[in-house]
Amino acid sequence: MSSSKCSLCTFIKSSIGRKLVVALTGLALVLFLAGHLSGNLLIFAGAEVFDAYAEFLHSFLHGMGVWVARIGLLACFVIHIWFTVLLTRENKKARTPYMHEATVQASKSSRIMIWSGLTILAFVIFHLLHFTVRIDSDLAALGEASPWEMVIQGFQNPLVTIFYVIAMTLLCSHLSHGVASIFQTLGLRSKKTAGAIKFISCAYAFVIYVGFISIPLSIWLFGFGR
Ligand code: HEM
Repeated sequence: MSSSKCSLCTFIKSSIGRKLVVALTGLALVLFLAGHLSGNLLIFAGAEVFDAYAEFLHSFLHGMGVWVARIGLLACFVIHIWFTVLLTRENKKARTPYMHEATVQASKSSRIMIWSGLTILAFVIFHLLHFTVRIDSDLAALGEASPWEMVIQGFQNPLVTIFYVIAMTLLCSHLSHGVASIFQTLGLRSKKTAGAIKFISCAYAFVIYVGFISIPLSIWLFGFGR
């Protein structure tokens, strides 16, 4: 028992173990985004459908479902960031002059990943304060009013809308690199599959991007919901 515990610890402390943890938590977050987007797009089906969907989420498993999802998501988010920081630190330490050419290329994309990742972190904190805690007094004034009304009201503010669009752009960049890295870490990338993996990653990031920005932009630019 203790020796299997130890081999798990050793594996998690290894570079490949850490990469696998980042890939699996990343995969869970990627799947969450697809689910969250599908649910949010119901806004275009009207207030009744969107509010019924929100009610379903909040009452699923007698209200426990939403908490299980929240705890799972938070755990994935924290572990994903923590293990990325550990890997980045270790990669920096391990760098030698002989690896120079390879690492210039690797560090370029990982630098973008870190900045886009930090923007997503800032966005998620803002997003939770905005829609879940409702720090915006206009949203707080809606009380228990419909979630549909809250989203429509939330995107009347141009600064909020612009921030969402910028954050989604960086999310798209993060996903296009991140999804490809998941395939690579899981050992699914080869010379044969590299092209298809690049296409799938970019297409997935693009669909998520267009889907998410369509909501604030159609509310703010085209007056949807008013
Ligand atoms: C236009 C884009 C988006 C819209 C309109 C939107 C809308 C919403 C709404 C209405 C809620 C529920 C608030 C509540 O009733 O508690 C929510 C929760 C949440 N959203 Fe988004 N979202 C968007 C993008 C995103 C993105 C890109 C992410 C992740 C990177 C994200 C992560 C979350 C999380 C973690 C929650 C909290 C779930 C909970 O605790 O209930 N959202 N979002």
